[in-house]
Amino acid sequence: MKPFPENTWYAVYRTAALRRRPVTVERLGRRIVLWRTGGGVHAAPAQCPHRGADLGAGRVHGDCLTCPYHGIRFAADGTAVHRPAVGNDDDIPARAGLTRIPAAEAHGYIWVWQGSGTPGTGPAWFEGEEPTTLVGADQVWDVHYSRFMESALDFHHVPFVHGVYTPGIGRELTDVELVEQGDRISMSARLGRGGSRRSLAVAGEVIMPCAMRVRIGSTSFEAVGTPVDARRTWVAANYHPSFTRHIPGLRKLEAWIAMFVDFKLFQRQDRAVFEGLDPAPSPLERMNLMPADAGVELWIRRWRGMLAEASPGDEVPAGPTAGAVPGPAPEEVPA
Ligand code: FES
Ligand SMILES: [Fe+2]
Repeated sequence: MKPFPENTWYAVYRTAALRRRPVTVERLGRRIVLWRTGGGVHAAPAQCPHRGADLGAGRVHGDCLTCPYHGIRFAADGTAVHRPAVGNDDDIPARAGLTRIPAAEAHGYIWVWQGSGTPGTGPAWFEGEEPTTLVGADQVWDVHYSRFMESALDFHHVPFVHGVYTPGIGRELTDVELVEQGDRISMSARLGRGGSRRSLAVAGEVIMPCAMRVRIGSTSFEAVGTPVDARRTWVAANYHPSFTRHIPGLRKLEAWIAMFVDFKLFQRQDRAVFEGLDPAPSPLERMNLMPADAGVELWIRRWRGMLAEASPGDEVPAGPTAGAVPGPAPEEVPA
C-alpha cells in the first residue's frame, strides 16, 4: 500500500521562499532539490547522480544547476551539460543527467507531481483572489499527514483548543452541510449555544490531497499539509491582507498580523494537540465519531479511496461504505 495518494500534485515549498539558491526539501518520503531559473521552477531527486552530493547545496548559474562537489552542470531539463573534470571534449552519457520531477509554481506554492502517471493540469486551488504571499510561514510537524488534513473540517475543537482566544464561542455544532464535488469537500456549520440564538458561522473546504481553506466568523486562512514521510507533515500557509490590500504601507503589516495570529497562536495550539494524536493514520474503525465529525469522516474515506487507486490490489483498511456523502443520521441532527 502506498503511504499517500499518487498521481496528484503536492505543494512542497512556498514560492516566496525559493530565491536564487537551490534548496533541498524532505517531502513525500524523499529528498527533492528545487531550483529556479529564468524558465521557471524545477525539481529533481536531491542526490547528484555522480557521487550523491546534495544538489541543494549547489548554485544556479544561468540556466544550469551546478553540483557543489565536482561542479557538474545540469540544464533545466536535467541533462548534464558540463563535467569540468573531463573538459570540453566530453561526450556526456544520458545517464549522467538528473531525472526531473514535474514541478509547477502556482497559488503561492511550488508543487511537484507525485506518481508515474502523466501530470494533470496544474494544481487546483480555491475560488477567489489569488494569494499575494506577502507573508508566509511553514513548519514540519510531528504528526501523520492524514491526521493533519482530516482536521480541516473539524470545527468543534475550536472552543476547546482555542478557547483562550475565542472567549464566549459556542460549543454546539449545528446546521452541518457537507458537499463532495470532484476532489473537493466543503463543509459549513454554526457554532452556538443550546437555547441561544447567537451563533458563529464556520466553513471549510478541502482540495484533495493537501490544500485547505477554513473560515471562522469573518476570518479565514488557507494552508497546505504535505507528507514529509510516514510520520511527519510539512504545514505551510501564506497570508494576504483583506482590509488594507490597496494601502502599500499597511498591506504587509496586516499580512504579518494575520500570520502571527493564525500560525503562531492558533496553529501552535493545534500542533500541540496533533502531535499527541495516535501516530497511526486515521484509525476510522477505532474512532467513535459524532455527527459533528461528518467532514472528518468523509476526508478519511476519500483519502482511503485515493490510496486504493494508488495501490490497486492491495488491501485497503475496512471502513464505512465509500462513495456516499456521510452526514448526521436524521435522528442525530443536533438541535
Ligand atoms: S557528486 Fe555531484 S558532481 Fe560529483
Ligand atoms: Fe484549530
